[in-house]
Amino acid sequence: MATKSKKAAKVEIENNEDPKEEAPVLMPPEEDAPEPLIEDLPGVGPATAEKLREAGFDELLALAVMSPGDLADQAELGEAVATKIISGAKKMANIGGFVSGEALLERRREVLKLSSKVESIDDLLGGGFETQALVEVYGAFGSGKTQIGHQLAVNCTLPMEEGGFDGDVFYIDTEDTFRPERISQMARGHGLDPEQVLSRIHVARAYNSAHQMLLVDEIKRMSKGLNVKMIIVDSLTSHFRAEFIGRGMLANRQQKLNRHLKDLKQLADVNNALVLVTNQVHSKPDAMWGDPTKPIGGHVLAHASTFRLYLRKAKGGRRIARLVDSPNLPDGECVYQVTQEGLRD
Ligand code: GTP
Ligand code: MG
Repeated sequence: MATKSKKAAKVEIENNEDPKEEAPVLMPPEEDAPEPLIEDLPGVGPATAEKLREAGFDELLALAVMSPGDLADQAELGEAVATKIISGAKKMANIGGFVSGEALLERRREVLKLSSKVESIDDLLGGGFETQALVEVYGAFGSGKTQIGHQLAVNCTLPMEEGGFDGDVFYIDTEDTFRPERISQMARGHGLDPEQVLSRIHVARAYNSAHQMLLVDEIKRMSKGLNVKMIIVDSLTSHFRAEFIGRGMLANRQQKLNRHLKDLKQLADVNNALVLVTNQVHSKPDAMWGDPTKPIGGHVLAHASTFRLYLRKAKGGRRIARLVDSPNLPDGECVYQVTQEGLRD
């Protein structure tokens, strides 16, 4: 049954853990000039470069922030060499700069909001899903993450006056759960022509994490001539989680994930687009993935996401979305439903 309740206070929640909150970090705008490579560092030949890459250090900034002891350990280098590399990286890395609040406000003025066409969700988000932002949707199996991805892909093609972006969507599918039939149902739910909607959603299946990262470059290449307004990665973390197993791989995985997130955020900034990534919660506590109530991906993802939405199932077929960690909105919850036609109040 439909509910108009925007608060979940009276809804029985099956799963009401409260993810730990962390302050998001505003990333400095990306520079266009190409960054020097790790090979450009004094004292780094091909062999050392390979060691560094294998340990997950593929950019200067990642090296610049290390301590000599940790870098020596992780990349299996002597400490004197590590010290030299770090000091070189500090000089050459693009640390980013300061911009005036006025310039930032100017950029914020360009931000658009994509309507979910569900009043309670839009209200929770202060009007909709913002461009120039990375939105992370996380929750357990079947909590509805992929449904949100499908619905927003459809909505992105709606005209501006109907809350859409009249835009093209790139959808990176890592779990083989993209369903054109579902897009068609949701398109019909908005009175849209399913074929036209499908023609604007560009889907690629990512076979592993390296392929997933390459597909972001492919989006950059393909986006010319298109009005790219949304990039979806469903799921952001599943390949990384499956491939980088054990404590020894943690640093490597986090470096790669960080690189991937920076590339995605750059797409969001350059195209004034919205990036939506899905993520799971830990299914069971273990040394690698930790607390079962938290989204996976750790601090890297927590810091990269502008908004985090935590999805849960409630009794009676209802769903709850909780806004966590917004830079400019109060945390809160809303209730909605998943129907044959798509998400509804
Ligand atoms: P994982 O990817 O497995 O982690 O799950 P998820 O969070 O992506 O879940 P997903 O978005 O795939 O949600 C699946 C749920 O959406 C199903 O259990 C259904 O409850 C609901 N759903 C999917 N399609 C339909 C539909 O056509 N009609 C209705 N009413 N519900 C649907
Ligand atoms: Mg899914």
